[in-house]
Amino acid sequence: MQEKVSSIRAEKVSVEFPGVKALSNVDFFLETGEIRAVVGANGAGKSTLMKVFAGVNVGYTGQLYVDEQPVEIRSPLSAKKHGIEIVYQEVDMALFPDATVTENIMMNKMLSGMQGKITVNWKQFNEEAQTLLDELSIPISAKAKVGALSLAQKQMVLIAKSVRIGCRFLVLDEPTAPLSVSETEDLFNIVRNMMKKYDMSIVFITHRLQEVLQICNTVTVMRNGEIVTTIPVTPELTQKHIVDLMLGRSFEENFPKAEQHPGEIQFEVNDIADMEGKVNGVSLYVRKGEIIGIAGLVGAGKTELCKLIFGALKRSRGTIKLNGKSLKIKIPQHSVENRIGMVPEERRKEGVMVDEPVYFNLSAASLLRFCNRIRFVKKKAEMQNAVTFIQNLGIKTPSEKQYVRYLSGGNQQKVVIGKWLSADCDVYIFDEPTKGIDVGAKREIFTLIQDIAKAGKSVIYATCETTEILTITDRVYVMYDGRVTKELVTSETNESEIMFYSTGTGGN
Ligand SMILES: Nc1ncnc2c1ncn2[C@@H]1O[C@H](COP(=O)(O)OP(=O)(O)OP(=O)(O)O)[C@@H](O)[C@H]1O
Ligand SMILES: [Mg+2]
Repeated sequence: MQEKVSSIRAEKVSVEFPGVKALSNVDFFLETGEIRAVVGANGAGKSTLMKVFAGVNVGYTGQLYVDEQPVEIRSPLSAKKHGIEIVYQEVDMALFPDATVTENIMMNKMLSGMQGKITVNWKQFNEEAQTLLDELSIPISAKAKVGALSLAQKQMVLIAKSVRIGCRFLVLDEPTAPLSVSETEDLFNIVRNMMKKYDMSIVFITHRLQEVLQICNTVTVMRNGEIVTTIPVTPELTQKHIVDLMLGRSFEENFPKAEQHPGEIQFEVNDIADMEGKVNGVSLYVRKGEIIGIAGLVGAGKTELCKLIFGALKRSRGTIKLNGKSLKIKIPQHSVENRIGMVPEERRKEGVMVDEPVYFNLSAASLLRFCNRIRFVKKKAEMQNAVTFIQNLGIKTPSEKQYVRYLSGGNQQKVVIGKWLSADCDVYIFDEPTKGIDVGAKREIFTLIQDIAKAGKSVIYATCETTEILTITDRVYVMYDGRVTKELVTSETNESEIMFYSTGTGGN
């Protein structure tokens, strides 16, 4: 077990990558007993700063302190020694799926305790792990296989593991982005509990500002690699104030929804279902120039529905029609050939080529447009397209030639969105397009989606954010448990009606 550290500090810390000043002269101080939010636009430097403390950005300049003693943190191991841990969004990467919760939590102890011994006292280990889970109010059995847990539960296992190894400063980088409302509540309870019981400090990076007000004691606002301010979260603090600090200007919250005049039906889905019963007989249609919403809670089947329509999931029944013509969509390629595009939810895994440059990703869905007759890619047009989308979406990158791997999380998302926006499709499917995207960029994305609709395209917009459904769509299909429970006209409905049907209360 490491020393009981009670404060960490950065003084004039800078991080530079080729062509990017990711952090400039940042001063940051954090004591245990606090839940600290770190907010800022995509690319502001939130993850970079926390990765300095976590020993991942080893090339930083400036001085770090632990308990006011100068230290060097040049490896994850040295961060751990000072009690600093980071949990990334890709929790899967940090766990062994085939091992049990106990094995994952107790890994370090097992390894160190094995010296000279050949057996492990499983009973004792299981008990110890279970006690820890109970203390943290984590409702998981220590004997469960990690691979069988939900994403939210996996996060909890990682949190328990960090407590187990004596973590004092736990960084959670956008932990709630993939969680449902109730999972988020559970996470917050655990975090609060943990902070008090173990006198820790939690750094909480998020784009959902309402969560900042809900759970954090203080909030650090970052902009362009600098810290703008750190302020206490008081009842008077508003989301708007935080946004204004983030963007450095006053932000107009209300999005002006353009009036749409949808034409005839362009796209139709009839009674489709997947092989596993995640989508169970969904029918919908979209007119030309119309934006339809797919509402519903996390797990309602929205993502599966999108994938099913796009051909990324196998259909067990149902038909898909574009302009009255039946389509045989078996794989995504068929959709693309029929000018149907999709921005998937799991963008890093499914939507983006991280080892390719930004310009290449931005034209990947529309390469034919940039080819001349003998199919040489017209570089100039391709670059011009990239520059346009980098501007329109505010993608933060030193150049269109930067590899996507080096963009911040949110900027990678924007690249995928740009890829499909430039593809000139007839039907666009967006699955949680604003996940991990900052408020300013969200607005840009809404504008671009609205422009697509204005040009007579059909848009399917799936999200669990009811406010987004109300902001951008014309009509809504509410899903619950793989079915559509209600179809609503957006201008005639409200948040509570959508919630009502999302919980399956009022099924047809
Ligand atoms: N390994 C890297 N190589 C090059 N540039 C990088 C690298 N890591 C981060 N950057 C750049 O540093 C800047 C800050 O990125 P960072 O990931 O800290 O942003 P963030 O505030 O976490 O944004 P988001 O909300 O999108 O996650 C960005 O411009 C990003 O492109
Ligand atoms: Mg980040």
